[in-house]
Amino acid sequence: MRHFLKETDLTAAETAQVFAVAAVLKAGRGKSDAAALARQSWGLMFFKKSTRTRVSFQVGVHELGGLPVMLNADDLQISRGETVADTARVLSRYLHGMVIRCHEHSLLEEFARCGSMPIVNALSDFLHPCQFMTDMFTLAERFAPGQPAKYAASLKGKKIAFLGDTACNMANSFVLGGAALGVEIALAGPAGYEPGAEIRAQLKKDGLPETFTFSTDPAAAVKGADMVYTDVWVSMGMEAEKAERLRTMQPYQVNAKLMALAKPSAYFMHCLPAHPGEEVSAEVLESKQSIIFDQAENRLHVQKAILAHLAAHRG
Ligand code: CP
Ligand code: NVA
Repeated sequence: MRHFLKETDLTAAETAQVFAVAAVLKAGRGKSDAAALARQSWGLMFFKKSTRTRVSFQVGVHELGGLPVMLNADDLQISRGETVADTARVLSRYLHGMVIRCHEHSLLEEFARCGSMPIVNALSDFLHPCQFMTDMFTLAERFAPGQPAKYAASLKGKKIAFLGDTACNMANSFVLGGAALGVEIALAGPAGYEPGAEIRAQLKKDGLPETFTFSTDPAAAVKGADMVYTDVWVSMGMEAEKAERLRTMQPYQVNAKLMALAKPSAYFMHCLPAHPGEEVSAEVLESKQSIIFDQAENRLHVQKAILAHLAAHRG
């Protein structure tokens, strides 16, 4: 049984294949839709808020010929103490796979271990791999236009600067996925927000080198970057630290002055939702360099390719 809980659950060759399939699905949307999930039912379970992930997966399962079953975790017995193991075993009797957004990453691992269906990480406190895969696909569309077979290879050696909360799930995904794809990841954030022990241990487990750099100097990270990325300063679940985070992360706001230090051809990306005036200025968000809505759209195409890949490799 294959799962997609982290970037490295796909080999480099499979990632290249997923990108190529996503390009086909994108080009054929509404004209030659695939039926990779025909007669299947997939659960989409959310313990946290979501706009993009919720809608893109629901539409994606439908477009692949399957039935998306929307599950608000609050409405299930799991929120009244039913164990993860029992929930996973029961739902495996109805569903062909599940997409789950949750707090502790270990819940996804337990679901995958106890159930008998593919599990997809739709964001945990640790990683957001569907977003990372989409972000790389969106960049590759620009680096190798019209050549989907070269998308993955086109990313090698490119420099990505990630600013702000460099200990959050998105930053972790860039650290792990960047190492796997050979992308240079330069992180800049306040002291105390360095990538933590958990992501370093994951790199080690996957046999990947620590190729990322961390600096407290945003200018150093952005210098010569092909793409500048940021995420919210207050991730879901971190609300109690809001005041402190808004104060310490201020120097890491992506604004026009900082973007000017990147390559003139550099793109700006953000997983969204954005908070204009906090982690990014409204000017940069709305600038020509910003490709945030292509990024949001591509969630649909890339996730469809991931779901199709898992369905084809059920084992
Ligand atoms: N980027 C992202 O995952 O957005 P949502 O939280 O709206 O799903
Ligand atoms: N780091 C953010 C990502 C939102 C898509 C969060 O976890 O809230």
